[in-house]
Amino acid sequence: MKVPFGDLSRQYKKYKKEFNSIISGVFEKGSFILGENLKSFEKNFAGYLEANYAVGVANGTEALFLALKAIGVGNGDEVITVSNTAVPTISAIDATGAKPVFVDIEENTFNIDPSKIESAITSKTKAIIPVHLYGNPCNMEKIDSIAGRYNLKIIEDCAQAHGAEYKGKKVGTFGDCGAFSFYPSKNLGANGDGGMVVTNSGELAEKIRLLRNYGFADRYNSILRGYNSRLDEIQAALLDFKLARLDEWNKRRRQIADRYMSELVKLPIIIPSVFPEHKHVFHLFVVRVSQRQKFLEFMSGNGINIIIHYPIPIHLQPAYEFLNYKREDFPVTEKVSEEIMSLPIYPELEEKEISYIIAKIINYFRK
Ligand SMILES: Cc1ncc(COP(=O)(O)O)c(C=O)c1O
Repeated sequence: MKVPFGDLSRQYKKYKKEFNSIISGVFEKGSFILGENLKSFEKNFAGYLEANYAVGVANGTEALFLALKAIGVGNGDEVITVSNTAVPTISAIDATGAKPVFVDIEENTFNIDPSKIESAITSKTKAIIPVHLYGNPCNMEKIDSIAGRYNLKIIEDCAQAHGAEYKGKKVGTFGDCGAFSFYPSKNLGANGDGGMVVTNSGELAEKIRLLRNYGFADRYNSILRGYNSRLDEIQAALLDFKLARLDEWNKRRRQIADRYMSELVKLPIIIPSVFPEHKHVFHLFVVRVSQRQKFLEFMSGNGINIIIHYPIPIHLQPAYEFLNYKREDFPVTEKVSEEIMSLPIYPELEEKEISYIIAKIINYFRK
């Protein structure tokens, strides 16, 4: 059997009729940028998260970038985040001219360790970007309290956590802004690029609306130095349809995770820790194994596609050498980066495929 890491053609097969009719509907109307589909999706996405405003943008990286710009981050500022994240979290900070400052993660959640944030704060620190990595919410209570004490802004990186909740409240609504990506493989994925900034501040929402469209207050009248970063009508219409299915898809991801966790628990493989107050939506199911290479070769020899998120922490990547970090600066991040890997998890994954993956993992440890 071959089990792909992801397979978006399965979603298309299931909703082919609906997707095709949504796309032709947009063509019939003939409006492709900043139209009614975007308005509707923004309203529904804000409603889903119980946030006041949602502003559609071109992708998740720009959602972070525009949110940072809107809160006033720029040259000479510092933004605290983690090195165990996707490169875009850092490229968004870098694009503002600010310096990314890393803190280590908690070994059991893979997320920012709130107890290490204070020692990274300087007079230049403007904001914290907690990344709800793999779909698992960060400890927002502790992060909010630190930000409050030091008067720092919070931009949540929710690219992997659509629908995740901390203490019953959706992520993306704790900070000044929440930044979402609709990259096709995300829990809520477009059929192209897409992103969204969510906020409860009318002032920030208005600023981001201006920033995404050349600072235009009205036609060709630019009142703020802006950019082109818009979510197009085809993507917005498809995403609006998919949003109504997000809870069902997240439920399925959690069911698959439950199966993995209950059937792998006795093996020498570290499974994700789950905490009742953190509703994990399992964008990725990340496990840890020592001697990872041997394990990966065995699984790939059996047709199972496994990917590592992420093999090289950002502070050790060549592009970010200029930040002057070195090996051993973030021991937990570095240790887990050598052991982590993501098992296939997506709503369309079939029970027989999950059984096959679990059986092969059991075989590996028995041999
Ligand atoms: C944690 C994280 N942040 C930001 C992004 C950026 O999103 P996009 O690819 O839509 O620019 C991604 C996804 O790629 C991500 O996983």
